[in-house]
Amino acid sequence: MNNSRRNFIKKTGAATLGAASIPAFSHYLHGSVAPSDQVNVALIGCRNMGFGILQHHLNMPGVNCVGLCDIDKNILEEKAGIVSRDYGQQAKLYGDFRRVLENKDIDAVIVGTPDHWHCLPTIYALQAGKDVYVEKPMANSIEECNRMVKAAQRYSKNFVQVGQQQRSGQHWNQINQLIKDGQIGKLRKTSVWGNFNYGIGQLKKPDTAVPEGVDFDMWLGPAKERSFNPTRFHGSWRMFWDYGGGLVTDWGVHLIDMAFWAKDISTPPKTIMASGGNLSFRDHNHETFDTMSVIFQFEDDYTVTWEHTAGTQTGPWDQNYGLAFVGDLGTIVADRSGFKLIPEWDNDKKAGKTEPMEKQVQGENHAEHVQDFVQCIRNREQPVCTPEIGRAVAVAAHSANIAIRSGAGLLHWDDQQGRFSNSDTANAYVIPKYRAPWELPEV
Ligand SMILES: NC(=O)c1ccc[n+]([C@@H]2O[C@H](COP(=O)([O-])OP(=O)(O)OC[C@H]3O[C@@H](n4cnc5c(N)ncnc54)[C@H](O)[C@@H]3O)[C@@H](O)[C@H]2O)c1
Repeated sequence: MNNSRRNFIKKTGAATLGAASIPAFSHYLHGSVAPSDQVNVALIGCRNMGFGILQHHLNMPGVNCVGLCDIDKNILEEKAGIVSRDYGQQAKLYGDFRRVLENKDIDAVIVGTPDHWHCLPTIYALQAGKDVYVEKPMANSIEECNRMVKAAQRYSKNFVQVGQQQRSGQHWNQINQLIKDGQIGKLRKTSVWGNFNYGIGQLKKPDTAVPEGVDFDMWLGPAKERSFNPTRFHGSWRMFWDYGGGLVTDWGVHLIDMAFWAKDISTPPKTIMASGGNLSFRDHNHETFDTMSVIFQFEDDYTVTWEHTAGTQTGPWDQNYGLAFVGDLGTIVADRSGFKLIPEWDNDKKAGKTEPMEKQVQGENHAEHVQDFVQCIRNREQPVCTPEIGRAVAVAAHSANIAIRSGAGLLHWDDQQGRFSNSDTANAYVIPKYRAPWELPEV
């Protein structure tokens, strides 16, 4: 992309968000994009979210799909058909993401694989000079997150957007601004919860043969070798430690991210206290916890709590998921459909301590988050959700799981040393053991 346009974007602030879903340039709207502004992307991991993110890319003029990569040929062919039918583009098909990264025509990759497959493709892509949109949580372990941040800092000519798309949402930005403007007074606590049925996994089934067209060894990748089971594969892998971290790392990171953002926190909490476990639904296949209560404590007088009871969908404020930002003057209760500011009552003045407010919105914020990424590819600037932000919240969520898995309950995280200062049992979970030939990448 040419420099004058980059400067224009910078000067006008057109690359920033706000009414971000509206493309900033009229030629975007008419689809005529200069050859120097064309962006070629490839998708690694095509089944569900990754493909949705690719579609948001392709809905932007001047963005082309030049590669699709998946270990499941059935998915690869189905998605290639959709890209051809809906966008008139013939992507090259790959089964091994390393071949994608050799393609010099590719500017950026979308990593839409399960969580245990986020770190390697992201770091290799940065080393190959590509920008990366990596889905959340940033990775499936603390050390993978550390190395991804290190890689992003080392290969800083390229950019990484982590898929915590609420950072690009207009009403989430408004809530953040209201808090920073002091509308609810001093924010001292944010309660976060996410009660979802899917957190208990699927009804148990026996192992089967690997489905035709699936390279299961490549799906497992750095995770332990094991036989195939349909209840721990596409979509349902989230509930097994080798591939995911359950509700707290899945939905949790989106919501906990908002609680961190309210105080501009970009490092993990110092103290993590968690209790819970697998207390119900034993006929369903899951290792991750169906029940959790977590307290994250920060130095600057701020507490964030996380709660989930998977398999029930009832929650505080009559919402199955959400946040309550508790300030001295009022509380903001929020979810993806809007927010409500509830003022505290001043008994002396017989009036609310702040103004009530309510807002309803529609839709997810994937499109805006992708637009932010594409604008950043074009103008060579950091996207809104940097690896540091992705790491802080992922490390917090993993620490909560580790507090229960290790039996420690209460953990103190030393971010300088990259370890828990009070539990060697917990430290055993920090660095994942990769299955050969895969190795945790050195940066
Ligand atoms: N931002 C959001 O709101 C949001 C929503 C859903 C999922 N996600 C994230 O997106 C990621 C994918 O989730 P999903 O629901 O799409 O999972 P999924 O299981 O439906 O899809 C993952 C795809 O990756 C493929 N894959 C696995 N290993 C691969 C490899 N080595 N190379 C290429 N392809 C490989 C699988 O075959 C599958 O097609 C996860 O990290 C998840 O947390 C984010």
